[in-house]
Amino acid sequence: MEPGKCWKDLSDVIAAGLKRILLYGPPGTGKTYAALRLATSGGPAERLVCTEDLTTAEITGSWMPVGNGRWEWREGPAIRAWRQGGVGGRLVVDEVDRASGDALSTLLAMTDSPESARWRNPETGEWVKPGSEFSVLMTTNLEDLTAIPSALLDRFPVAIRIDQPHPSAVTSLSDDLQTPALNSALGEDVRRISLRRWYAFDGLRRSIGAERAAQLVFGEAQGQDVLDALRVGSLR
Ligand SMILES: Nc1ncnc2c1ncn2[C@@H]1O[C@H](COP(=O)(O)OP(=O)(O)O)[C@@H](O)[C@H]1O
Ligand SMILES: [Mg+2]
Repeated sequence: MEPGKCWKDLSDVIAAGLKRILLYGPPGTGKTYAALRLATSGGPAERLVCTEDLTTAEITGSWMPVGNGRWEWREGPAIRAWRQGGVGGRLVVDEVDRASGDALSTLLAMTDSPESARWRNPETGEWVKPGSEFSVLMTTNLEDLTAIPSALLDRFPVAIRIDQPHPSAVTSLSDDLQTPALNSALGEDVRRISLRRWYAFDGLRRSIGAERAAQLVFGEAQGQDVLDALRVGSLR
């Protein structure tokens, strides 16, 4: 399966050395998966899932009790990714549209350009800077990027709309589901269905049969559409 244009754009800008990329578009196409795995060489990427409750402590770290009344500073995912930056550390900021308040200000500091970004460890007083290969990929399921604070958006000169599932995500489905899954992700044949549903259906139908699995996963009406699409596919 040929990777679509959006996926090619993504691998090309990463290969060209761009270190701040925003991925947006409908859920379930593989944005987070790609952000976590694509071209990271500094060990596993650090992931931050933004919610309204996300705090600065969850981004840069917090004091933790270590017994005998002693406390140590435990560095958070953003600082860990900075420290891995020399060898390609990556921070993935997932669902970035949900970040607000203090967390948002901290995210601004953590995604700043390498020349100006600095953070001081409150325990050791050490100044930490992001390593030269440090990269940030942000994801959002929003279509409308104006909902993302402009100061944050400004740090991400390239935003790629992921409008189709990653080819390897589709090929990990059973053969007969691949074309319908791709078409449905493109909004053709049947209404848009996220990859996660196709995976669930694929697994479930092995034990409870396609009819019931379709009904449970896709609902009554859409389940029927899916079964019809599969029947047509098997005739072809
Ligand atoms: N390249 C891939 N290979 C295999 N599975 C994938 C791939 N990309 C995504 N998936 C799977 O597809 C589902 C949706 O991916 P995810 O990255 O969470 O989508 P999004 O972030 O766009 O909502 C997940 O279950 C994920 O594990
Ligand atoms: Mg995601």
